[in-house]
Amino acid sequence: MVDIEALRTQPELTGENVLLTQLDETYFETGWEALREPESRRLTGTHTDFTEEQVRTWLAGRPGLADRADYAIVRKEDRVHVGDLALTDVDKDNRSGSFRIALNGPEFFGKGYGTEATKLLLAYAFDVVGLHRVSLEVFDYNPRAQRAYEKAGFVREGLQREALWWDGEWHDVITMAILKNDPRP
Ligand SMILES: CC(C)(COP(=O)(O)OP(=O)(O)OC[C@H]1O[C@@H](n2cnc3c(N)ncnc32)[C@H](O)[C@@H]1OP(=O)(O)O)[C@@H](O)C(=O)NCCC(=O)NCCS
Repeated sequence: MVDIEALRTQPELTGENVLLTQLDETYFETGWEALREPESRRLTGTHTDFTEEQVRTWLAGRPGLADRADYAIVRKEDRVHVGDLALTDVDKDNRSGSFRIALNGPEFFGKGYGTEATKLLLAYAFDVVGLHRVSLEVFDYNPRAQRAYEKAGFVREGLQREALWWDGEWHDVITMAILKNDPRP
């Protein structure tokens, strides 16, 4: 069974270097900058230009939701907000959900924060919320993300040919997933 209360209350999740805490409007300033950061936009395929008002409203609406969990990734040593991640589209009947993550800019990439945060979120999704399957999509030009996902236990399942139009070219979208009983390195 899916524990809806665990989604609504979103316990803080603590790792060695990062902690995951409820995303809300207090993360507006850093989140707003990250949304305009060109490399993060390219790697997440973000075409939309959000307004400040849209972002504030979206952040303020995160706490208490029953079908998803949105977390801020905070570096433990200095409490810097280094990124966000989310378990979305939770399907109670099939005990499945989707995963997304983005660190706030290149200065945070490649330091292990993404892999650690992903592992924390998966432990929560499987062992606390009670999911059976978590899936994600990643672009063919993002090997760093693919590697981080593999390190957390995601397995490549498929390829959507030319599903993304970015900067004048078509790109393939890779599908990855992890099941509850798959190895979690
Ligand atoms: C994807 C993301 C979350 C990964 O988190 P991270 O903290 O940067 O990644 P980690 O440091 O934990 O791990 C990165 C791994 O990729 C490897 N890597 C880096 N660049 C690589 C490349 N060009 N090719 C192959 N592997 C690469 C690193 O060596 C490391 O693996 P290792 O530990 O085996 O050496 C983060 O980079 C990010 O937010 N990027 C921008 C947004 C984004 O891409 N989001 C995902 C969209 S699907």
